[in-house]
Amino acid sequence: MRLLVIPMALVTLAACGCAPDPKSGKGFSLPEGDPVRGQQLFSDLQCTACHTVDGVQFEQPENSEQKMVALGGEKFSVVTYGELVTSIINPSHRFALGYSDTDIKTGDKSKMRTYNDELTISQLSDLVSFLESHYKVREYESTQYYPYY
Ligand code: HEC
Repeated sequence: MRLLVIPMALVTLAACGCAPDPKSGKGFSLPEGDPVRGQQLFSDLQCTACHTVDGVQFEQPENSEQKMVALGGEKFSVVTYGELVTSIINPSHRFALGYSDTDIKTGDKSKMRTYNDELTISQLSDLVSFLESHYKVREYESTQYYPYY
């Protein structure tokens, strides 16, 4: 009987689509980064030319033509770890919400430049830990139903 339970469970998992897709990001994780080094890097790599970060004051270039894209703070959509990493290494995979296309894209490409040939994995981990510590995940607010009189 026992022997049957496991194959049955696997069949059920596969049938309901609960088994992770082989291309799923599940299981992906960078080594622990250092948020203090990350903040320094954020300014050294000039991410500050195009971004503000909630709760941090950076020297921002004056009269920049580039529309600032705000990072951190409360987001309506949950910013997952995977989304954060992907936004840095593959900016055009999806676009920040709440901006007009011309402010953030050129054609179908993000205006964010590629750092992939200059960032080390350690630097990427540090940047992600720094940014992660400035995102506040908004709590889910359930709908309020009032008594009907
Ligand atoms: C030349 C301007 C520019 C620079 C420099 C730049 N970015 Fe961006 N970045 C953008 C734009 C524009 C977007 C919005 C479009 C998109 O989502 O790709 C963006 C999006 C992002 C997002 C996703 C935001 C969201 O809410 O979806 C993250 C995270 C990010 N950048 C991190 C960085 C980091 C870290 C650096 C430095 C290593 C950096 N950026 C440098 C222009 C820039």
